[in-house]
Amino acid sequence: MNLNSILVHTHSGLRWVALILIVMTVIRAGNLMSSKENFEFRTKSLALFAMIAMHIQAAIGLVLYVISPTVQFGATTMKDSTLRFFAVEHIAMMLIALVLFTIGYSKSKKKTENRAKYKTVFWFYLIGLLVVLASIPWPFRGLGAGWF
Ligand code: HEM
Repeated sequence: MNLNSILVHTHSGLRWVALILIVMTVIRAGNLMSSKENFEFRTKSLALFAMIAMHIQAAIGLVLYVISPTVQFGATTMKDSTLRFFAVEHIAMMLIALVLFTIGYSKSKKKTENRAKYKTVFWFYLIGLLVVLASIPWPFRGLGAGWF
């Protein structure tokens, strides 16, 4: 196994950790959004771990972007849908999602009211989740990537 394949497998498997943490954060913040409960340690930790998982994915992804043979720049890059996906679409959309999670988390920390904290996390993480789901090279998209 070379570095590239170790990183691809790690990056591929970690998607599930990131997705589960993001979904759990959205559900929890959504449920508590209309309650009077304090913005407690559990939701804050979930939101933080989800954001960290996304940052780890981005860090591994950026290394892959440099070393992976799947990322190629040439005359056909924009014409070939797989090459274009990994050279442009995946990185651009995932960076947008990463910014959404980071802004959502830090904005929620600055809010003073509990409901406003839950609401901020809920909306930023929900939109971030949709961007991530739309930008994963799911096997059914025919981009040559697997489930794990
Ligand atoms: C800025 C952030 C990211 C960058 C630069 C990036 C970069 C890459 C690159 C270059 C590949 C192709 C690897 C190869 O086939 O050799 C890849 C594959 C992949 N990425 Fe990302 N990625 C990022 C974020 C994410 C995130 C947040 C997720 C999911 C939560 C994700 C999920 C995947 C999956 C599932 C694959 C396919 C792996 C496989 O072939 O099985 N990526 N990424």
